[in-house]
Amino acid sequence: MSRIGKHILGLKDMPKEYIDIILEESKTMKKLIQKPVKKSSVLRGKVVINMFFEASTRTRSSFELAGKYLGADVINIGADNSSIVKGETLLDTAHTIEQMGTDVLILRHKASGAPFFLAEHLDCSVINAGDGMHEHPTQALLDLFTIKERIGSVAGKKVVILGDIAHSRVARSNIYAMKKYGAEVTLCAPRTMMPVYAEDWGVNITYDTDQAVKDAAVINVLRLQGERQEKGLLPTLREYHTFWGMDQRRLKMAQSDVVVLHPGPMNRGVEIASNVADSSHSTVSEQVTNGVAVRMALLDLLAGGEDDE
Ligand code: NCD
Repeated sequence: MSRIGKHILGLKDMPKEYIDIILEESKTMKKLIQKPVKKSSVLRGKVVINMFFEASTRTRSSFELAGKYLGADVINIGADNSSIVKGETLLDTAHTIEQMGTDVLILRHKASGAPFFLAEHLDCSVINAGDGMHEHPTQALLDLFTIKERIGSVAGKKVVILGDIAHSRVARSNIYAMKKYGAEVTLCAPRTMMPVYAEDWGVNITYDTDQAVKDAAVINVLRLQGERQEKGLLPTLREYHTFWGMDQRRLKMAQSDVVVLHPGPMNRGVEIASNVADSSHSTVSEQVTNGVAVRMALLDLLAGGEDDE
């Protein structure tokens, strides 16, 4: 088993020592992707399968590039072009792929728990690339990496997670990550988008965005997850922006060096104003680059290391 266990399924139960190792390894990987020739051969002869059964731009392509930069053979499988459309079960599809020599299987799936289920039944490593409304561990790892790069430690600092918390796997993984590192986490959402069990997370909860962003060191803005919502959770998008949108006025209420994250894809003018998204406080572009570095680190830690020759 690798130094960080066999699978990356969620951050809830991941030991902090594993996260430390991943973040340290990510620094090395970031140096590699900043070189003119971004190539290593540590995963030569290894097979990485990207199974994405939900839409994705950055997570899918960053896993694909991460594998390729490290010399692995990477293939992508989507729901529309796989035998899932012919009625094959997820497990049968995954077993089939595994028999082709898979070392790491990356899964994005609309069902919460799907990667945990595969991990129980397959011999290869499984990475959760987002399971329903549950967890998105690699996103939270890259968010943590990005925050640490900008402001160092999050311990004792006010970290705000703002927006559609109820439907967000990014929020859940971020809460677990930030709390492990001692951040003071504040959740802010409309009442219709705050889970009833949020109090169990040991976080501050507010429905007032001005109060939430006051003196914040970090504000992680979530996308309004329209595709996962029942109707009637909010009156209009304009009202959402007025009451829960991250705008210039609120930016000024936070700490002067506040860092504003967004996992992408952004709904400009809804959860985040364009002039905030494009400001020097925003880490949206860095998050994308760091996402490749963190995913390289994970693939290397899970599948690299042993020289089979
Ligand atoms: C997130 C996701 O899919 O959960 N996107 C991503 O991976 N960067 C967030 C989102 O879709 O809002």
